[in-house]
Amino acid sequence: MVDIGSKITQGEWSSNDLFKSLVPSLATAFLLLLFTTAAWRRYLSPLSDLPGPFWASITRLWHVKVIIFGDQNVQLSRLHEKHGHFIRMAPNEVSVTHPDAVKKILQQPMKKGMFYNISAIPDWRYQTPMSSLEPKDKIERSKAFASGYAQSNVIKYEDAINPLIEKLGNWMDHYARSGEAMELDKYLIYTSFDVVGEVLFSRPFGFIEKGEDLGNSIAKNLAQEAIGTPVAQFRWAQLLLGNPLVTYLGLSPGSMLMDTAMVALNERQKNPDARFDVVAHWFRYLQQHPDRTTLRNVQAQTTTNVAAGSDTVACGLQSVIYHMTRNPGTWEKARAEIKKAQREGQCLGKIISLEDAQQLPYIQACIKEGLRIHSPVPMGLQRVAPKGGVTIGDRTFPEGTTLSVNPWVLHHSTELWGGDADEWKPERWLGDDTTVLEKNWIPFGAGWMGCPGQHVARMELLKICSTIIRDYDLKFADPSKEWKWKAYFTMVPDSWPVLVSKKK
Ligand code: HEM
Repeated sequence: MVDIGSKITQGEWSSNDLFKSLVPSLATAFLLLLFTTAAWRRYLSPLSDLPGPFWASITRLWHVKVIIFGDQNVQLSRLHEKHGHFIRMAPNEVSVTHPDAVKKILQQPMKKGMFYNISAIPDWRYQTPMSSLEPKDKIERSKAFASGYAQSNVIKYEDAINPLIEKLGNWMDHYARSGEAMELDKYLIYTSFDVVGEVLFSRPFGFIEKGEDLGNSIAKNLAQEAIGTPVAQFRWAQLLLGNPLVTYLGLSPGSMLMDTAMVALNERQKNPDARFDVVAHWFRYLQQHPDRTTLRNVQAQTTTNVAAGSDTVACGLQSVIYHMTRNPGTWEKARAEIKKAQREGQCLGKIISLEDAQQLPYIQACIKEGLRIHSPVPMGLQRVAPKGGVTIGDRTFPEGTTLSVNPWVLHHSTELWGGDADEWKPERWLGDDTTVLEKNWIPFGAGWMGCPGQHVARMELLKICSTIIRDYDLKFADPSKEWKWKAYFTMVPDSWPVLVSKKK
């Protein structure tokens, strides 16, 4: 055996020799640690008896893999259908579809899971209600922004978004005249981005005006989501990507989004014609309470809203229009509803008003069904079990367990929605008692973290869908082809070109 100590004292050993002799021991120690951790996670953890993929019990990489493949929703849904309410989807994360999931998880003031840290865009200096993990912090931060989203204020934005919907209509007219197939998916994305710009800072980005993805920003945004969602599964990776140095070097995945939002926000501050838009509410709060929020918080919230309010609405719009085109019977029924309203003097404006659209129960049912069957957020909403754990049904999860409720997965549970959970069926919303359905319908989340932008989203969905249904007939350019989508943080579809004809 080599006597390292005496060799060193005799001066015969170089640091290189020392390093070489230590490498095998370090490697062995590392492997031992790895195997012990894996064995503990798999066989001794309090979650080890839960069903789920073998690799998910050992490493979060299983979740990363299904995110990269873009089918985390389908994979989890299958596992739940096979094994029941609880699936271990990562060493310390359990996906839950129990009928009490919403009440026991999302509606409780439980700390949010680690994934939410990534929503400080582009780095940890830009904290928002979304990125604040503690309920108390989140609720405190939200106070600065709440009035901008209030229903009573949202209806004041309606006139401003009508011209954008008209522009969408102009493009549809153009394709109806030319007979060319229209990539309506893209135009719906352009519209939803522009509406967010108009609602937030009185300035659309110009996508629907030009009918193109200016500077490829939407495509880049989606690409960033495809990279950011899997990367954000690890805290160390979040810190590596979302830190001020990376922002300074312009390398952060969120940089482009933030730059777009910041340019718009700066121009907004110089625009004398700006409406009393959403950011006007936020600046007023900043002026009145400089001790409670900061300019940086307003900037961060602006960026978050551009991200949170555009792809999501685009998903919802696409889902409703796509499924109604696939099921023309529902389109006809919705049109008949509008015709009846027209005979009563409603729905006559160039763009159907929110007030009139709210009187169309069948179309509202189609929108609910669209947000159910293709929930824009196919990612688990994570909460962390507090001291004392959380009991759901006959199972208690210990403190520190991440419990997540995935809207898409919950919306496809046959236990909750019946054997036809995977089918498009707006009629399910018109039954006598829809209380159980409503309870488990969570496209906007639920409880204290519920989406603050949902009134804006509902307004867009109602106005745009009802106007398109009234004014156009759509057919798939190739009916044999299904749309495509990838389930990252949102799941924006593509590849369903349509032939448009204008209703006389
Ligand atoms: C159909 C459209 C939409 C859907 C399905 C949707 C869904 C969601 C969901 C699931 C959450 C997270 C809930 C949780 O983590 O528990 C969320 C949060 C959020 N959404 Fe939406 N959203 C939509 C539209 C919008 C719009 C139009 C805006 C802005 C105008 C917006 C702004 C936000 C913000 C800022 C948050 C973070 C939470 C907070 O700040 O309080 N969303 N949304």
